[in-house]
Amino acid sequence: MRKELMKQDDILAALKDKLSHSHSPYSGVQVAAAVEYIQNGETHIAFGVNVENVSYGLTVCAERSAISNAIIEGMKHITALYVISNQSEAISPCGACRQVVSEFIDNEDAPVLCFDHSLQKKWESTLGELLPNRFTLK
Ligand code: THU
Repeated sequence: MRKELMKQDDILAALKDKLSHSHSPYSGVQVAAAVEYIQNGETHIAFGVNVENVSYGLTVCAERSAISNAIIEGMKHITALYVISNQSEAISPCGACRQVVSEFIDNEDAPVLCFDHSLQKKWESTLGELLPNRFTLK
């Protein structure tokens, strides 16, 4: 999806819509994430939701699901990450997702924007801040 057509309000509205697609019968915690990336000079957005499994450990978080969808479309680097849930406080990416996000960091200052369900509470960070002193082979 091209961002030129999607301002931040539109991205958040779309994220809220995606919450109902979350497969979360075990926790009841619905999470939706959006990965922004640049491709051929244009800004694109890919969405993801959490996908739980009766074998709980196989659950895939919304962030990793969004990253997989973005990769399918050709994403190389994340330029912004959005997260929303059905919780009353903004939730931030779990440790496993932070490691996966770190694979796709080009700009450490790219924003991470996490919102509560009503979009009133925001936790704001950057991709670089998510996982300081992370493992790298560079
Ligand atoms: N969850 C996410 O989707 N993203 C996170 O960063 C934290 C947790 C999901 C996983 C599980 O389906 C539910 O939230 C409760 O842990």
